[in-house]
Amino acid sequence: MFSMAITPTPTVLVTGAGGQTGQIVYKKLKERPDQFVARGLVRTEESKGKIGGADDVYVGDIRDAGSIVPAIQGTDFLIILTSAVPKVKPGFDPTKGGRPEYYYEEGAYPEQVDWLGQKNQIDAAKAAGVKQIVLVWKRKAEQYLADSGIPYTIIRAGGLLDKEGGIRELIVGKDDEILQTPTKAIAREDVAEVGIQALLFEESKYKAFDLASKPEDAGTPTKDFKALFASVTSKF
Ligand SMILES: NC(=O)c1ccc[n+]([C@@H]2O[C@H](COP(=O)([O-])OP(=O)(O)OC[C@H]3O[C@@H](n4cnc5c(N)ncnc54)[C@H](OP(=O)(O)O)[C@@H]3O)[C@@H](O)[C@H]2O)c1
Repeated sequence: MFSMAITPTPTVLVTGAGGQTGQIVYKKLKERPDQFVARGLVRTEESKGKIGGADDVYVGDIRDAGSIVPAIQGTDFLIILTSAVPKVKPGFDPTKGGRPEYYYEEGAYPEQVDWLGQKNQIDAAKAAGVKQIVLVWKRKAEQYLADSGIPYTIIRAGGLLDKEGGIRELIVGKDDEILQTPTKAIAREDVAEVGIQALLFEESKYKAFDLASKPEDAGTPTKDFKALFASVTSKF
């Protein structure tokens, strides 16, 4: 008797799924049920409601390692899109011009969210046997991920823009070279797409790269992600 090996559809957890880029990744994953089973992790019930409130959205706080476990159990891939979110200091009046001042809430400084919170996610993923982690730009957590032994893809995105994705040529580089150029910005939709495509090609594994895009009227929109990842030579 023959038994056909059926590869089950991989489950992908995106954390920060209520955030600006996380929302896009979660939506894109849900639109590709033939390729992925989507899961999201958000911090609050409010964020869960904002992205549709489905049962595949877990509520947890990445500063509390135990609260990540239910979401990560049985997950094949992890895309980390959590970020400490600065708040505008009260009293800022946009009609008067100038720049607002920002602050972090007690307990929600980058040290707690971006370092410890991401370390918790990497540890939980390792314990759960996650096969690959995609991380968007967090220096200290990047080093920890690279040292973890889990296949990783580290995307150091330029300034994130709320613009349409899929219509610009993407450029990858290393050592901040492209981030010094006028093309240092990138649409959140493009970052989301690159994060998902990284799960589909071996060429993305054990790589870290800067990611930006050419202006819309210059270059050819990137469609061949395998070639894009293959062109990256930097491991960290
Ligand atoms: N903004 C930029 O220009 C820029 C540039 C380069 C790289 N990046 C990186 O790109 C990624 C996405 O950026 P973004 O601007 O799209 O993010 P964002 O909108 O600020 O979203 C961050 C998300 O993290 C969640 N979060 C914060 N603390 C948490 C906690 N303790 N537990 C669970 N979730 C928590 C927030 O949840 P709630 O909504 O529930 O609070 C929020 O949805 C981040 O890693 C960021 O550092 C950003």
